[in-house]
Amino acid sequence: MTQRRGPDRELIACSLAHYEDPAYYTHSYANRIDDAHMYVALAVKCGGPVLEYGIGNGRIALPMARHGVSVTGVDHSAPMLKDLARRLKAEPKEVRARVRAVRGDMRKVDLKKRFPLVLATFNTALHLYERPDVEAFLARVKRHLSPRGELVVDMSVPVPADLARDPSKAFRTPRFRHPAMGVVRYEEHFDYDRARQILFISMGFEPLDNPAGAFMTPLAHRQFYPREWEALLHYNGFEVTNLFGDFHSGPFDRASDVMVWHAKVRR
Ligand SMILES: C[S@@+](CC[C@H](N)C(=O)[O-])C[C@H]1O[C@@H](n2cnc3c(N)ncnc32)[C@H](O)[C@@H]1O
Repeated sequence: MTQRRGPDRELIACSLAHYEDPAYYTHSYANRIDDAHMYVALAVKCGGPVLEYGIGNGRIALPMARHGVSVTGVDHSAPMLKDLARRLKAEPKEVRARVRAVRGDMRKVDLKKRFPLVLATFNTALHLYERPDVEAFLARVKRHLSPRGELVVDMSVPVPADLARDPSKAFRTPRFRHPAMGVVRYEEHFDYDRARQILFISMGFEPLDNPAGAFMTPLAHRQFYPREWEALLHYNGFEVTNLFGDFHSGPFDRASDVMVWHAKVRR
């Protein structure tokens, strides 16, 4: 079914573009704190060290490090890692010493080290577009997990209404102040590829005082249905130990919009 004809440049671009502007990223997710609290609690409970795939600019890693846990992060985005380095400079020496970031692909990096807790935070796993990507990633996770170590992955649940949107129709939000461009008009287009189960989102920005500076940022998210991700874990040698439907250990059910998977290597 999956036919590989070399790297898919569109998907590579769609897994990088949204992370080219860390200031806007930070602004967009400034109110997203429940997931960070959950990951800090898990990290403190296990004591670390923690491996975080998709560390980005440290939205979750920095609080973990501030709570005394050592974190190694893997990410392929140079701008996000540069911003993480910038943010680390403002931290006390002992916090700085607890964070190590490695630039690379989560499907390939070999850190030659094992961790009791491995994380793939905030939809990082939705950048695994094809089965071989998931297989390569889970093989890397196995390679990095301590015996009895835990993998925790959170991802959005596919939203039927989003997948059914007319790609030619723009969805506009009220204007807002972009951290670098001033006030912007903003619109999104959603285009779901049902064959590949990939949602292509294009985010359009138009600065009010410079319409010629308008641009579009693409993002692609694989849509994993719960039973598919469970099967991928199972057939790649993992055992699901818990599945929560929010960041407060609530049950996963038909109303949940997030899946928080806890898994261990099956023995
Ligand atoms: C939504 S961000 C999460 C960042 C951070 N953990 C947070 O919660 O704010 C997803 C991250 O995954 C990274 N990423 C996407 N595909 C990747 C890949 N194949 N290898 C490594 N990192 C990847 C992106 O660069 C981005 O920083």
